[in-house]
Amino acid sequence: MNVLVVGRGGREHSLVQKFVESDQVDRIFAAPGNAGMSQMAECIDTSEQDFDGLVAFARENNVELTVVGPENPLLDGLVDAFQEADLPVFGPTKAAALIEGSKHFAKQLMQEYEIPTAGYEAFSDVEAAQAYIKEKGAPIVVKADGLAAGKGVVVAETVDEALSAAEDMLRNGQFGDASREIVVEEFLAGDEFSLMAFVNGTNVYPMIPAKDHKRAYDGDQGPNTGGMGAFAPVQELNNWSYAFAVEEILKPVAAAMVKEGRPFTGILYAGLIETSVGPKVIEFNARFGDPETQVVLPLLENDLLQVMIDVLDGKNPDLTWSEGVCAGVVVASEGYPGAYEKRRPLPEVEVAEGGFVVHAGTAWEDGKYVSSGGRVLLIGNKGEDLAQALDRTYQSLRPFENQSDFFYRRDIGRSSVSSAAPHADVE
Ligand code: AMP
Ligand code: GLY
Repeated sequence: MNVLVVGRGGREHSLVQKFVESDQVDRIFAAPGNAGMSQMAECIDTSEQDFDGLVAFARENNVELTVVGPENPLLDGLVDAFQEADLPVFGPTKAAALIEGSKHFAKQLMQEYEIPTAGYEAFSDVEAAQAYIKEKGAPIVVKADGLAAGKGVVVAETVDEALSAAEDMLRNGQFGDASREIVVEEFLAGDEFSLMAFVNGTNVYPMIPAKDHKRAYDGDQGPNTGGMGAFAPVQELNNWSYAFAVEEILKPVAAAMVKEGRPFTGILYAGLIETSVGPKVIEFNARFGDPETQVVLPLLENDLLQVMIDVLDGKNPDLTWSEGVCAGVVVASEGYPGAYEKRRPLPEVEVAEGGFVVHAGTAWEDGKYVSSGGRVLLIGNKGEDLAQALDRTYQSLRPFENQSDFFYRRDIGRSSVSSAAPHADVE
């Protein structure tokens, strides 16, 4: 079979790496792909937003399954375009992707179907929003309704900070259309984790839980980023919380989407906070997480193509997972998530057995890899436990240790190593 992966980041490279393992796959196309993907897929020089071009390409090249990685084409209806053309595609329609595209929609849905989440109000009027913020006090969270490239959430520690966030978004149009409306919600304290599931209508097949590290610098300091590293599974999460997240969050929300006439097919991603009364939702995404995918898929024992075919056919894909833990650390361009230089040469990386390199912002120039984005690549490895997975990963990061053009977090997973295995340091 021929498959087409739409996207150009680490998540999509990871999907391509998984498809390579499938006996059923003949040709893999990536649109537009990246330098890493071009080693194992045929990259097509097109944009994720060129729907007509992608549909025509899929038809002409006998693509039997298209998988859409990023949120923007999903929200703009790329899956609908494929369905209208009668081409097999894995991902949610525009109507279903609204669960990521509008925070207000997602909050209303959760409220109506009693899915645990932070208390909230939505506003388009700045005075009303500010009165509500003053009434509730800090800490409090202010969110742009629409997509704002990961920058639309302000976790305000003071009332003043929240008031000015509301002002920037509603009065000053900080995120354009995406902040015509805002959600103001209760601050939730607790550990975060991500839970993704393959979904088709009311059928929900959960993956292993993962933990992302969103802040740029060690100790969870600095600005929010797309994600600086991840590991899976999250062993400190107890079985009760995992079961709760599946039974009381993922399954009811999938059923709610069917009831609302927006049945969801694809990957449903729940960003969760483990509060003192159990997991609550911070956000839903309508796609694979990045970098969670890069550490979850290496532990999936099934053929990913068969899983997607089964899910689309309404069959249980019987997901099975390897023992052990997978970790991944992102190497970013110095300055990211702010301004950074591109076209900086990358040192050679050697990964130990079981290790892998996932490209995100790289290009191939004059016979070598150079950087072309903020998040450049992710280096990962598996281990019997988190400590071993991390040790192996950090060994492979050595070539980047003294590179002034790049940086990476030194503490991915560290706080979980000590809480999951308190004996590790003693032995
Ligand atoms: P998001 O862009 O929705 O993923 O939010 C970015 C980050 O803001 C999350 O990863 C959380 O760390 C934080 N956050 C969002 N909502 C809340 C909340 N209600 N309480 C505490 N932290 C939150
Ligand atoms: N890692 C967070 C996301 O994919 O949205």
